[in-house]
Amino acid sequence: MPIEQAQAIAASRESDLCAQLAAQAGDWAGPVTLEIGCGHGHFMAAYAAAHRAERCLAIDIMRDRLERAQRKTDRAGLTNVVFLRAEARMLVENLPENLRLDRIFVLFPDPWPKRRHHKNRLMQAGFLSALAQHCAPDARLFFRTDHAPYFAAAAALLGSHPDWRCVDEPWPFEQPTVFQTRAPAFQSCVAALRHPA
Ligand SMILES: C[S@@+](CC[C@H](N)C(=O)[O-])C[C@H]1O[C@@H](n2cnc3c(N)ncnc32)[C@H](O)[C@@H]1O
Repeated sequence: MPIEQAQAIAASRESDLCAQLAAQAGDWAGPVTLEIGCGHGHFMAAYAAAHRAERCLAIDIMRDRLERAQRKTDRAGLTNVVFLRAEARMLVENLPENLRLDRIFVLFPDPWPKRRHHKNRLMQAGFLSALAQHCAPDARLFFRTDHAPYFAAAAALLGSHPDWRCVDEPWPFEQPTVFQTRAPAFQSCVAALRHPA
């Protein structure tokens, strides 16, 4: 695809995303729970049902997965969760000023195992810095993966990041995701802001 065409698609997606975020502006008045890469929405549908007073936002880049996720919450009559088709970095760059993230779940993100593909991993220093800018003071980031090398890299990154630190806290809510049910084992890390505003 020519670069101009790719740029035009990205610009159009960004503008759609901003419009969708603006349309939901009333939902962002209080702390927001975000799930990045929600897949078919098993976790977020259960989480939102169990936390009806929380505003929840779940994103993924795959339209069909989001449609299935939306059907789950529609069937359950949930009104406190919004599913958006969005790429994580684009979302964070375009979050409304008033939106404060309280809990962020990153569950079984693509591990990009080959070294030359590590740059595609979600857990990168720059992304974590940008995320921190939109967090409430007591925000927590919950990361879980079945890929041991990715876990080690992410835990080391969070442990040495200027904005984040790992904390010894329990996982707040259990609902197996599709990838979790397939995983023979997994590891979890909870992180807090290093210098809450
Ligand atoms: C390995 S699957 C895990 C799905 C789900 N969390 C689970 O545990 O079953 C990773 C998900 O992240 C989504 N994804 C990958 N890169 C993403 C990105 N940059 N922004 C948002 N979602 C992304 C994929 O479409 C996919 O649904």
